[in-house]
Amino acid sequence: MSGAAGNWSSLASLPGMDDSEFERWASLLEKRTGVVVPLKRKAFLVTSVRGRMRETGHARFEDYLLDLQRVPEGAIEWTTLVDRLTVHETHFFRHPPSFDLIARDWLPALAAEPSRSALHAWSVGCSSGEEAYTLAMVLDQHLAARGGKSYFGVTATDVSLPALAAGRAGLYPRQKLDEIPEAYRTAYCEVLDADSFRVRDSLRKRVGFAQFNLLDAVGASMKRLDLIFCQNVLIYFARERRRDLLATLANLLKPGGLLVLGSGEVTQFAHAKLARVDNRNVLAFRRTS
Ligand SMILES: C[S@@+](CC[C@H](N)C(=O)[O-])C[C@H]1O[C@@H](n2cnc3c(N)ncnc32)[C@H](O)[C@@H]1O
Repeated sequence: MSGAAGNWSSLASLPGMDDSEFERWASLLEKRTGVVVPLKRKAFLVTSVRGRMRETGHARFEDYLLDLQRVPEGAIEWTTLVDRLTVHETHFFRHPPSFDLIARDWLPALAAEPSRSALHAWSVGCSSGEEAYTLAMVLDQHLAARGGKSYFGVTATDVSLPALAAGRAGLYPRQKLDEIPEAYRTAYCEVLDADSFRVRDSLRKRVGFAQFNLLDAVGASMKRLDLIFCQNVLIYFARERRRDLLATLANLLKPGGLLVLGSGEVTQFAHAKLARVDNRNVLAFRRTS
């Protein structure tokens, strides 16, 4: 990075950002990740960018923006900044009805298809891994209850490298154990000390973490999946982009596969090969053919 441009006195009072400058930053973020930051969240964007500029030693937004856009040097700094500009809140079993649907309706329906010996799930925008591990717990427990030898794997992807590193470690604050129902807690979590617990290795090896920008899924040739879980990600995207991405996700499902979205995140979505699952608490679609 060329931009250790500022001295300490200018860094102490970083400038304000006018609305047209804000538009430049917001549109860079939208173009590269799909995430929309509306003007009413300008303070969040400015605080996040300024915070990072203090660390990199940039005194002017323009210099920092120029450095970020340098090819290829800006790419590493971009991965750090994007982590600050995106929301990573997540929980184990965040939306219980969605996991109940998988366990009680979808998996038993698949049992009627003996040809399906392996299940591949994708946690899209997995943040620090709680959603991906929840899927793995539910799949492991309910496939085992079904008997037979079904293999499963969960691919967990995100743009944020720090979030992915946390997911890979599978190490969480002890309070988060309260998010996990007792039956799963004992089977899949190992308390390490008064402050932390870890997801057991046997489950961790079922979950693979990888950096992947959801926008790159459009037009990419990818392996088809049985289950795509995409909650609290599209909500940050523009409406038109959501529709394109949903069509892409629909095309990535195998027949009989399930697409689970966040309730209320998408309205009026329809796809020729998807049928809405009849459950008023969950927004999910089953691929028909
Ligand atoms: C609020 S978290 C949701 C985590 C989890 N899905 C849940 O519902 O608990 C949103 C995640 O989406 C990720 N994200 C945002 N834009 C993305 C993109 N274009 N591609 C992949 N991940 C993205 C963010 O980095 C963040 O970790």
